Amino acid sequence: MELQGKTAIVTGSARGIGEGIAMVLAREGANIVVNSRKKEECTDVVKKIVSSGGKAIAVAADVSKKADVTAMAAEAVKQFGAIDILVNNAGTEGHPCLAKDLSEEQWDRVLGVNLKGVFLCCQAVIPQMMKQGKGRIVNIGSTAAIRMTFFGSVEYTVSKHGVAGLNQHLAWELADSNITVNTVCPGGVHTPLMEAGTTPEYREMTVKRLVPLGRFCTIEEIGEAVSFLASDRAAMITGQMLAVDGGVLAGFGEDLRPVIRKRMADAQAAAAAKAAGRQ
Ligand SMILES: NC(=O)c1ccc[n+]([C@@H]2O[C@H](COP(=O)([O-])OP(=O)(O)OC[C@H]3O[C@@H](n4cnc5c(N)ncnc54)[C@H](O)[C@@H]3O)[C@@H](O)[C@H]2O)c1
Repeated sequence: MELQGKTAIVTGSARGIGEGIAMVLAREGANIVVNSRKKEECTDVVKKIVSSGGKAIAVAADVSKKADVTAMAAEAVKQFGAIDILVNNAGTEGHPCLAKDLSEEQWDRVLGVNLKGVFLCCQAVIPQMMKQGKGRIVNIGSTAAIRMTFFGSVEYTVSKHGVAGLNQHLAWELADSNITVNTVCPGGVHTPLMEAGTTPEYREMTVKRLVPLGRFCTIEEIGEAVSFLASDRAAMITGQMLAVDGGVLAGFGEDLRPVIRKRMADAQAAAAAKAAGRQ
């Protein structure tokens, strides 16, 4: 129980990777602020934590809205008296298409959640962590923070590369406040986001071609990496990007160009058919 009595905000923790992180941190004794845009989405995870003897509250906040995340941080302090750990997990998928075809709205939506959201949540908790003299920030990036995404969406890749930049800058800026900042970069993880964005064939094909260890990660495996970075064992680690990807970034991988281009074309054709149906 190496996080006993600590308080962690885990954004986007009502399902998927965020749920895995919340469960592992709670197992280690942390009080958890379970977050999603709607409070009712958080109920199941809060119940799971409480029924296994932990402490958790549900707080609704859209991470891309400053007022929401400021209120979430205030609620965490009100309920638990501190914020020791922030896990910036909330994220959204991109739109697979050629960059020239991406709309301004699609760009703004993904950058708003995946990058601005991370920035705003950091801003919201940093003053409290400074007051406490210590803190841990762990971002959930992606292998797309280091290479391009195999989802084929330019704005997703850019948003995650932005998180890598924020990671480095904040690690430097916050070092003398004893706040560490690191980013865990999952490869493929089978979650609702992955399910919504890909077909079973696409998932099977990417695992076969890209993942040396031969499978996607579990949500708990991402939680274990976050838990380590949030613990005292990682006190000297800051500004790092830790891939939990089954070796995706280690290997040369296969040329997925035809596969990704087909995925972009299919998504564009589906969008065009949908628009034509509306006319
Ligand atoms: N699934 C993967 O293969 C994979 C790989 C690499 C990185 N990631 C990253 O991991 C994170 C979690 O992904 P996931 O697959 O679990 O996704 P998911 O869609 O299954 O879960 C994301 C959660 O975030 C919440 N959320 C979305 N937008 C939000 C907002 N504006 N404010 C608050 N909550 C919001 C959703 O409601 C949901 O509960 C994301 O940052 C994603 O980019 C996922």
